[in-house]
Amino acid sequence: MTREEASIRIEQLSSEINNHNYRYYQLADPLISDQQFDVLLKELQELEKAYPEFLSPNSPTQRVGGTITKEFQSFPHRYPMLSLDNTYSEAELRDFDNRVARLLQEPFEYVCELKIDGVSISLTYSDGNLTRALTRGDGVRGDDVTDNIRTIASIPVKLKPGSYPDDFEVRGEVFMPRAGFRKMNAEREDEGEMPFANPRNATSGTLKTLDSRQVARRPLDAFVYYLLGEKVTGNSHYERLQLLKSWGFKVSDLMVRCSGIEQVIEFINEIDTARATLDFDIDGVVIKVNSTEQQQKLGFTSKSPRWSIAYKFKAEEAITKLVSIDYQVGRTGAVTPVANLEPVFLAGTTVKRATLHNADVISALDIRVGDTVIVEKGGEIIPKITAVVKGARPADSKETRFVEACPECASRLIRNEGEAAWYCPNESGCPPQIKGKLVHFIGRRAMNIESLGEGKIEILFDNGLVRSLADLYALDAGSLTGIEKVLSSADGKEKRISFREKTVANILAGIDKSKNTGFEKVLFALGIRFVGETVAKKLAVHFRSIEALGKATYEELIQVDEIGDKIAGSVLRYFADDANKGLIEKLRGYGLKFEMAEPDTPRGTQLQGKTFVVSGVFSIYTRDGLKSAIEQHGGKVGSSVSSKTNFLIAGENMGPEKRKKAMELGVAIISEEEFTRMLQVDSKEEG
Ligand code: IVH
Repeated sequence: MTREEASIRIEQLSSEINNHNYRYYQLADPLISDQQFDVLLKELQELEKAYPEFLSPNSPTQRVGGTITKEFQSFPHRYPMLSLDNTYSEAELRDFDNRVARLLQEPFEYVCELKIDGVSISLTYSDGNLTRALTRGDGVRGDDVTDNIRTIASIPVKLKPGSYPDDFEVRGEVFMPRAGFRKMNAEREDEGEMPFANPRNATSGTLKTLDSRQVARRPLDAFVYYLLGEKVTGNSHYERLQLLKSWGFKVSDLMVRCSGIEQVIEFINEIDTARATLDFDIDGVVIKVNSTEQQQKLGFTSKSPRWSIAYKFKAEEAITKLVSIDYQVGRTGAVTPVANLEPVFLAGTTVKRATLHNADVISALDIRVGDTVIVEKGGEIIPKITAVVKGARPADSKETRFVEACPECASRLIRNEGEAAWYCPNESGCPPQIKGKLVHFIGRRAMNIESLGEGKIEILFDNGLVRSLADLYALDAGSLTGIEKVLSSADGKEKRISFREKTVANILAGIDKSKNTGFEKVLFALGIRFVGETVAKKLAVHFRSIEALGKATYEELIQVDEIGDKIAGSVLRYFADDANKGLIEKLRGYGLKFEMAEPDTPRGTQLQGKTFVVSGVFSIYTRDGLKSAIEQHGGKVGSSVSSKTNFLIAGENMGPEKRKKAMELGVAIISEEEFTRMLQVDSKEEG
């Protein structure tokens, strides 16, 4: 390479890396894997070493991370937030060990910990109180996300009394457990929102949310792994972790002290096998010299401590070819491009398809049919295309043009401002949208029609029996008996399956039973965009009937807790559409519930001598309804919690003071459901 070529390549790499940093840190939407990023960074580091005259102070190698988001106030870190030197190879790990041994010239120990794949955070505590939480930012300054961090239950805001210094800093990693991530994504899809690609993106996106109430609803969690400050005691990293634990911090138990590199490698191998069974994503193991005195001796380079290294697990990758791109239409009409790949074996399964997310991802990758591509399977199950091998591109390849018409119904696609997805606007006529709405409607958390499933909905639709939600209730034994689905089996033969008598009876019974479903679930089942399970419940409890909801103005809607501009707009649009009003009238005609019902329990004496206090918002009863139910069963209603109170019935958003008081006085705190059971069980025993 000539000097001039080196200079050009350095320019190129710097801008590429800066762009990846931006995607990773600011957009929470990286295009390449960490591993590929590290390859680029290493190449740049090497070139800068060979041609120091081209090393600019603004080179991405001279910075630790990304840049700062505009919305949050930024503050300098008291101690810069450095990153770790990392490696994917055992040989380099041994080099690290030799280097440490050479520098220390005395025996030493390591501590090995999990490398949590989340978002790093710096927490400052003064006199036992969390005073500030900063993101890493560019390593020198970070964003103040204290309000968001306070919502994470596993991060103490006030420490238990103990021997902590009056001023210290702790570093850790915020992450989203896999189970919570999956649940949250399912809810997002219910609400017609784009799901997050993986738990780390979800975490990073969440921490950048300006409304901390939204953050509080996300299942975030955090581990801490580094204690620092002038007044900190504990002569080893291990001891400090134990101190942190004793002060109420969450420290992962999956860590060990090792007396040599062999034990370190053993731990790495154990974790690599156990990794799939963890409830959160990790991307490696962090190795740290245990003694703090030895850490000091080793010191830091400008970018990372000399006493620590991260061993990163390789994301499993494979190379294959892009055969074609399909466009799938979802329930909300969002069109998702899906890559059809030449089948390739990857991490235990054969991969044939991978999501391409949206048009932006396609153009950023500049991916074309016929391209050789790299697919990766990280912690998540869905494989993703991380890169295109441009050198292997066929000479006649054509740029990918995102479809302009719906592949299902040929409607012209539209794109709303600020959204990445293209939509098919033909809500009531586009088959996958209709089928998707039906599948959502019968779902467990909606109308819960267990006798129908996605497969049966498909058959009903294909036979022309259901075209709208209301058609389900028009089904009868006559129309269902004898309908068929033709399956072509592997040997090319056709197999016809039809509903047996018992299945038909079962389906009809399930549909009939669903008429008893409560209003809040019916409202959710309608599939109004952005109206998920929680929002539907809030709206139902607040407005109590579809009439009232349908008449609500924008101002009235945004009065409701959790309802903002986006949801209000969607509700207004829904009710402005005559087709939707017609649908509701039909469903009402079939006997579905469009009002909140007060439970109708017979009067009784089972609550005689008991005093209740009612607090918060309820969903089965109104507050007044609850009070009269108590009185109708012989109980008394008190206005504040005292030693005379027997039960506190806790609704949503109950005041924290009442809860505290009840806990202090040992008053039983029960839910509305438990209260309802009290009425039922007792009257049966008496009757
Ligand atoms: S120690 C000076 N320990 O990995 C040492 N970092 O590339 C500070 N990370 O920025 C870091 N798990 O976000 C440490 N057990 C662990 C970690 C960990 C995850 C992250 C952290 C850091 C990055 C380093």
